[in-house]
Amino acid sequence: MRLSRVSAVTALLVPIFMLSNAHAATIVNGDLDGPVSTGSAAPGWFNWQKTPDTCDANGPFNNTPNPWALSPNGGTFVRTAGVSGVNSEAFAQNVTDFVPGVLYDLSFYQTNLGFEHPVSGAWNGTDGYYDVLIDGVLADSTPVLTKPAVNTDPISWSFTTVSFVAPSAAFELALVGQSASTSGLAAYMGIDGISVRVASIPAPGAFCIFVLAGITSRRRR
Ligand SMILES: *[C@@H]1O[C@H](CO)[C@@H](O)[C@H](O)[C@H]1NC(C)=O
Ligand SMILES: *[C@@H]1O[C@H](CO)[C@@H](O)[C@H](O)[C@H]1NC(C)=O
Repeated sequence: MRLSRVSAVTALLVPIFMLSNAHAATIVNGDLDGPVSTGSAAPGWFNWQKTPDTCDANGPFNNTPNPWALSPNGGTFVRTAGVSGVNSEAFAQNVTDFVPGVLYDLSFYQTNLGFEHPVSGAWNGTDGYYDVLIDGVLADSTPVLTKPAVNTDPISWSFTTVSFVAPSAAFELALVGQSASTSGLAAYMGIDGISVRVASIPAPGAFCIFVLAGITSRRRR
């Protein structure tokens, strides 16, 4: 009786330790660093839809009087013009080494850049956010970021975490720029510093108490 109880606890805890220690799902070039590019995402990623850009403080497409502040992740970042459906710029990576059925947290910095029209000088852009697609299926969305009120507002980056369940060991992870407006105009967003980890799980101690409480209540019955 005592032995089987111990092995039941062990059987439940071993996968937890495997996930938290041994397992290492990775994302290639989550820093989105690479050559500045008009029309392509950073190395390691591919254009999933339309033509995202790889930017530094000066652009491409920074027509404001000020350099863009870089994210705390540093280096270049990816910029997307997000509208909706087939008109949104998006980039993706075919990732590997995930555990099917496990919940992951995907974290990154996002910002709303706005867009100064190069000819008219109009201060364009809308409020926007990112959708996270797993094998083409919407898994989660980021909070909406407001377009800066004027073209001289400082660019501020916010850290955000979304979650998804890995459908298989390897799958396509896509980040899609989206507009929160129904005007048909685009949100011009920046994204940087993408990382992934197994979602927070109960600490082994707490989990042990949980399992033992379950055994105790079963014994009472
Ligand atoms: C990524 O995976 C999808 C689905 O398996 C496949 O159609 C596509 O060609 C792959 N793209 C790259 C760049 O490997
Ligand atoms: C910029 O905004 C104006 C309205 O303020 C709109 O007519 C125009 O289409 C917008 N251009 C872009 C590129 O978003």
